[in-house]
Amino acid sequence: MRILSGIQPSGELHIGNYLGALKNWVKLQNDSKNECWFFVADYHSITENYDPKEKPKEILNLTADLLSLGLNPEKSVIFQQSQIPGHADLTWIFNTITPLGELERMTQYKDKAASQKQNINVGLFDYPVLMAADILIYKSDAVPVGEDQVQHLELTREIARRFNDKFGKVFPEPKPLLTETPRIMSLTAPDKKMSKSGGEKSYIAISDSPEVIKEKIKTAVSDAGGDNGKSPSPRLRTTKGGDNLLVIFNAFAETKEEKSDYSNYKRYHEDGTLKYAEFKPALAELIANHFADYRKKRAELSENPDYVKQVLADGAAKASAIASKTLLEVRTKIGLII
Ligand code: AMP
Ligand code: TRP
Repeated sequence: MRILSGIQPSGELHIGNYLGALKNWVKLQNDSKNECWFFVADYHSITENYDPKEKPKEILNLTADLLSLGLNPEKSVIFQQSQIPGHADLTWIFNTITPLGELERMTQYKDKAASQKQNINVGLFDYPVLMAADILIYKSDAVPVGEDQVQHLELTREIARRFNDKFGKVFPEPKPLLTETPRIMSLTAPDKKMSKSGGEKSYIAISDSPEVIKEKIKTAVSDAGGDNGKSPSPRLRTTKGGDNLLVIFNAFAETKEEKSDYSNYKRYHEDGTLKYAEFKPALAELIANHFADYRKKRAELSENPDYVKQVLADGAAKASAIASKTLLEVRTKIGLII
């Protein structure tokens, strides 16, 4: 199976990215049945407000993060989107078969447009078509992502179908691959998904030190409802925050002992006797330990940016070869080859 996914270089990775997508990337890569392609979606990231001076660092940091989490350039093709011009070429062609109305329905577009009112650019609107081109230019079969990207995958399948119907079969219809935790919620507002835009306390970055993780989990909303420290009325009482923390514990529990701890905490949570003063430090320790290996490798890679650049250059060479081939096939089908 050909697996492909991308991630934007914009700020730190958090455990939502990890549990919803990146953990799955590493797992899929390590199954020899799969051929894996992973890339840094820098073209997507410039649809948001950003600082051009910071972007090169963000691209290199993200690549170093992916390598430190276990992506292996000998098993996967790892590359930078903008180094492969075919993605933008194919986007243009797909633009001509994508109805405006379909893009207007995209919830991520609506959310982002509402949050960056001064910068509702055409790229932000066209973002899902670029994503379809990213996926289809490699004729990918499956795309490991979090739940928030499923609507974009549906559009990708529709674009593939429409192209094939109109011009003859070129593309597969790729399906999303979700983990058991496709939507991790914010620590401070557990009715919203965990994201960088929620503020530092709302997420745990994979690079956070054990002390910072402990502090963030300590202040995470649990069963008390709102995050203002006041006790809400019983009617407003919610267990969403507590549920989310348990989901996170379960996702990081690996050993028999950790799994049995989880079962106990879950039972206490259900009968309302969970002691957060015990559970929260245990959760923080579990997360911090999980990323110990990552932190070590990441520190080593910080010393070696040339290696990281070389990984991207090697990946670009492999990706270019396939992208050019698909593009020639597409140009032929749509009648542009004279
Ligand atoms: P982004 O940081 O938005 O580029 O997302 C990178 C990957 O992480 C995508 O596959 C997202 O679907 C996934 N992702 C982002 N936030 C979450 C979350 N809170 N829970 C699960 N997956 C997420
Ligand atoms: N839009 C995705 C996100 O924000 C990133 C992305 C861009 C992507 N192109 C892709 C994911 C192609 C999978 C396949 O997370």
